[in-house]
Amino acid sequence: MSAAPTDLSTIDNGNPRHIAIIMDGNGRWAQKRFMPRVFGHQQGVKAVRNIVEYCAEQHIEVLSLFAFSSENWRRPETEVSMLMELFMATLQREVDKLDKNNIRLKIIGDKTAFSEKLQQKIIHSEQQTADNTGLTLVIAANYGGHWDITQAVQKIADKLQTGELNQPFITEDLIEQHLSTAGLPEPDLFIRTGGEQRISNFLLWQLAYTEFYFTPILWPDFDKQALKEAIISFKGRQRRFGHIGEQILTQS
Ligand code: IPE
Ligand code: IPE
Ligand code: MG
Repeated sequence: MSAAPTDLSTIDNGNPRHIAIIMDGNGRWAQKRFMPRVFGHQQGVKAVRNIVEYCAEQHIEVLSLFAFSSENWRRPETEVSMLMELFMATLQREVDKLDKNNIRLKIIGDKTAFSEKLQQKIIHSEQQTADNTGLTLVIAANYGGHWDITQAVQKIADKLQTGELNQPFITEDLIEQHLSTAGLPEPDLFIRTGGEQRISNFLLWQLAYTEFYFTPILWPDFDKQALKEAIISFKGRQRRFGHIGEQILTQS
């Protein structure tokens, strides 16, 4: 019997197809500089620009960014309204550029809570970039993993009731097809900046087998080099998906 290869140093997963990021630490970044939290959010947008650019350069298929959680409404009203304004202004300023760069924009989350104007802007931004074939940029806004699973189940229930769906079993595929991320590959790499090590109700279903990477770097300081390091860490990990290590090594 030949010995199964055990050399983990040869692992190379290649680039992740889908990177999902919790962009955390804007407020602390500003406070460290004795500036209002708002300043940190503005600087955070600059970091987004760099990271989007890097992902497009590296031919990453999907980049998902957590911009505003379903729990973030609990923040002081001034911060919430400032974040809404920043979201609107960023869409207004950036969408043409995204479009020129062949980037497809997709916003996930409960959009009904946004102002009519913002909802319209979101629809138009998505339509404008819908046929682009480069990076898919997913912005999670008023998003929660609980919300996502709940709305999927609700959609399925509605379809069962109207007869559009007629099947006795609820399958994993069926649920997946009704999540807000339907049609996208699952995240391969999850990154959270800012030092906290929690999911904060981000893509709960979708992160089932994602590789996690936590960094103390505050989001406004997260640059191309920092992302490159996260990707290098990802590339060298053995993804077993329930198998044992030797099965994976003999496969490759
Ligand atoms: C993340 O940064 C951005 C949003 C949640 C909108 P934070 O605002 O949470 O920054 P910290 O965690 O307070 O430093
Ligand atoms: C998670 O960050 C949400 C976003 C980055 C948009 P938070 O800073 O809101 O998370 P918690 O509340 O510390 O878990
Ligand atoms: Mg935070």
